[in-house]
Amino acid sequence: MASRSTELALARLQQIRQSMESFNAPSVAAQKALGQYFTRLPLARILAALSCGPNVHSAIDPMCGIGDLLDATAERQWSCSVPLQMLLGVEIDESLAAVSAQRMAEVSIAYQVEDASIMTGDVFRALSCRTLSEQYDLVIANPPYVRYQRMAKAGPGVVSQHHALQQLLADASARLLPDAERSAWDLLVQAYPATADLAVPSWFLCSLLVKSGGRLGIVLPDAWLSRDYADVPMYMLWRFFHPEFIVRGIDAGWFGGAHVHTSLIVAERLATSDALIPLARRTPKPDESVLELDMDGNACTVRLVSEQLMAMGPCPSARGDRARAVQDVLAGRVSLRVREVHDLTFETLQRASRHKWYGTLEPDGRMLDRAAPRGTSVPSSIEVRECAGMTTFEQLCPSGIHVGQGLRTGCNDFFYARLASSSGAFHKDARIITGRAFGGSHLSVPSECLRLAVRHYRELSWPLVSSSDLTSVLLYLAGWFLPEDAEHLKGSSDDDTSLESSWKRLPIQLADHIRTAAQTRVGAGIPIPLLSAVRTNTGGAVSSLARSRGVFLWYMLPQLQSRHLASIFVPRVNHDSPKAYLKRDESVVVDANFVTVWSTDAVWTENALLALLNSSWMSLAMERQGTCLGGGALKVDAIQLRHARVPVILGQDTAALAQLGSAMTSAVGAADVLPRVDDLLARLSLPPGASPQEIRDTSTATRVRLIEARSRRQKKETS
Ligand SMILES: C[S@@+](CC[C@H](N)C(=O)[O-])C[C@H]1O[C@@H](n2cnc3c(N)ncnc32)[C@H](O)[C@@H]1O
Repeated sequence: MASRSTELALARLQQIRQSMESFNAPSVAAQKALGQYFTRLPLARILAALSCGPNVHSAIDPMCGIGDLLDATAERQWSCSVPLQMLLGVEIDESLAAVSAQRMAEVSIAYQVEDASIMTGDVFRALSCRTLSEQYDLVIANPPYVRYQRMAKAGPGVVSQHHALQQLLADASARLLPDAERSAWDLLVQAYPATADLAVPSWFLCSLLVKSGGRLGIVLPDAWLSRDYADVPMYMLWRFFHPEFIVRGIDAGWFGGAHVHTSLIVAERLATSDALIPLARRTPKPDESVLELDMDGNACTVRLVSEQLMAMGPCPSARGDRARAVQDVLAGRVSLRVREVHDLTFETLQRASRHKWYGTLEPDGRMLDRAAPRGTSVPSSIEVRECAGMTTFEQLCPSGIHVGQGLRTGCNDFFYARLASSSGAFHKDARIITGRAFGGSHLSVPSECLRLAVRHYRELSWPLVSSSDLTSVLLYLAGWFLPEDAEHLKGSSDDDTSLESSWKRLPIQLADHIRTAAQTRVGAGIPIPLLSAVRTNTGGAVSSLARSRGVFLWYMLPQLQSRHLASIFVPRVNHDSPKAYLKRDESVVVDANFVTVWSTDAVWTENALLALLNSSWMSLAMERQGTCLGGGALKVDAIQLRHARVPVILGQDTAALAQLGSAMTSAVGAADVLPRVDDLLARLSLPPGASPQEIRDTSTATRVRLIEARSRRQKKETS
C-alpha cells in the first residue's frame, strides 16, 4: 500500500505534469539551436512501456528536457514492481534542468527510485569529463534534431564542431566499449559526415551508454532517415543492436507545432560476440522479428495506446515474448506488422553498401545476394523479397542514372516571375509580372536575363511538356551587374578590359527592381539579400574578385547544374500516383518542386528514362518509398527515388524502353504504351524463360498493387 508520503509525492507530481503539458522551450532561439521539442507524457509512456523490463535497474536520458521520458520510465518500472535503483537525466539548458530536478524529486518518492538526479551541462562534455563513466540498462532519449548549420548557434561552451564531437565519442568508446568492438565503432564515428545534424552524434552517444543486453529507446524524426547521413547510424544500430519495436507516426501530429513525421525505435544491445559478426554473415534465427506499429498523431490514439501499454502486465524478459505481449494488448487498435529481421537488415546493408567504410565492416564486399530476403512463390511485385535469388536488382542510381532536386532559389518571389504575354516566345525584351512581394508589377527585361521554368505541375501537360505552355520565368542574372557594383568591380585589376567585355549592365528598370528587392523584407522580416539561401550567392565566376572588393552579388544565382536543367522530372508532391514528365528544351530550368532525373550513360536516353519512370513498377516504388502527407498527397524526395530498386536493365532492353518512351510522346499516346512498359519490367523481374502468361500476370499484379497502395494512402488520410 502506498505510504502517505508516496501519495503526497504522487499528487505533487501530478500537478507538475499538468503544468508541463503546455510548457514550451524558454525561447524560439534556444528551441531551434538546442532542438527543444519535448516528447510529452503520453508518447513518453509509449516509449517507456516498450523499453522497460524486469532487467532494467538503471536508466538515463542524456538530453532530458523537462523530464517526460524519465518520469514515464520510473512510473512504468514501478508499476511492474521493479522500482529503479538509479535514474539520471542530463540537460544543457539550466532552466529546463531545474524543472526536471524538481520533477525528479517527486518521481523518486512516488516511484521509490533509490537515486534520481539531474546533471546540468553539455552531455558530450560530461562524457569526456568521465562524469558519465558507466553504462546503463536503459538509455531512453529524444535527441535534439538540429541542422548542422544551426549547431554553432547553441552558444559558447557547447560542443558543436564535428571533429570535436567525433573526438569525444572516440574517447568515450575507448573507455566504455570492449576492445574487440572498438574498431568498428570508431570507424563509424569517423564516417558520419560533417553535414549530419546533431541527432547523429547524439545517437552514437546514447548507444555508447547502453550496457550489453540493455536497451535503447529512442525518438527519431523520419526526415532524418531519408538523408544520406542516416546510413551510418542505421548501420550502427543494426550491427550492435537487435531492434525490437518500431512505432511509425503515420502523420505529422505527435509533436504539435513541429510538423515532423516521427518514429520510436526500441532495440536491445547485442553481446560482443554477436556484434562482431558482419551483418551479411548473420544467419537468420527462426523467430527473429521486429514488431512494427503504425500510429496516427491524433491525441486520442496516442493517449489510448499509451494507457493500454502502461496497463500491460510486467514485460517478459525474453525478446519474442515481449513482442507477443505488446501484440496481444494492441491488436485491433493500431496496425501491427511483424517484419523479418533478415529483410530489414538487408535494406540497411543496401544503403550502407554505397559507402567506403562498408568494405571494411562487411568483408563479403558488395555481394549482397547472399543476404537478400528469402523468396516466396509469386514473383509478382516490386518487393524484392519476392524475387530475390532469382533476379538481380539494383538501385536506380548506380546504373548511370542520377536523381536530384530542381532549383532552390532561396527567394522565389524575387527570382521567379511570370511572362505577361502567354505566347512564351522570347523577343529581345520580354514583359514579366513580378512576384507577390513586389505587388505583381510589370517590368520589361532583356530576354537574355530570363530562363523559362517548370514550376507548378498543374500547368504541365503529361508526358511531354512544351516550352510554349510555360509561363514562369527565372531571373538568371549571371554576368549582369548593377551599375554601382560594376563600378566597384572595375578598377585596378589587370583584367579589367577582358572582364568588362563579358559584363553586361542591367537596364534601368530591372536595376531599380533589384535595388527595391534589396530593401524588401519577406518572411520573418528579413531583407531578401540576407535570407539564408540568398546570402550565399557570391557571383559565380567573379566571386573572388567581388569578395576582394566587398561587392555582394546576392542577385546572381550560382551556375545552373544538371539537376536544375534535367529533361525528366517528377513532382515532389503528388495527389495521384507520381508521374514523370519530359521536356526537350535543355535551357528550361526545373524548380525545387520537382525531383529531377538525368543520365550520364548514353544508353539511358531521355525517352528510356521517361518510359522507366512512368512504369507501374516505379510508381509503386515511389508509393512505397515516399512520405504520406496530410490530405492524402504523396511526397517523393530525391533520395527516396534513388533508393528505388529496379531489375537490371541491359542494352537491348534499354533500347526497347527508349522506343516505348518515344511512342509515349507521339500520336500513339502514353496510356496505350504503358502496359507494354509494365510487361517489359515484369519480364525482367522474372527468371529467364518466363512464359507470356506469367509476364502478363506479373505486370497486372504490379498494377493492382499500385492501385491498392494509392487508395490505402488516400483512405488513410480521409478517415
Ligand atoms: C528533443 S528535446 C527532448 C527532451 C526530452 N528528452 C523529451 O523527450 O522531452 C532535446 C533536449 O536536449 C537538450 N540538449 C541539446 N543539446 C544538449 C547537450 N549537448 N547536452 C545536454 N542536453 C542537450 C535540449 O535543451 C532539449 O531539452
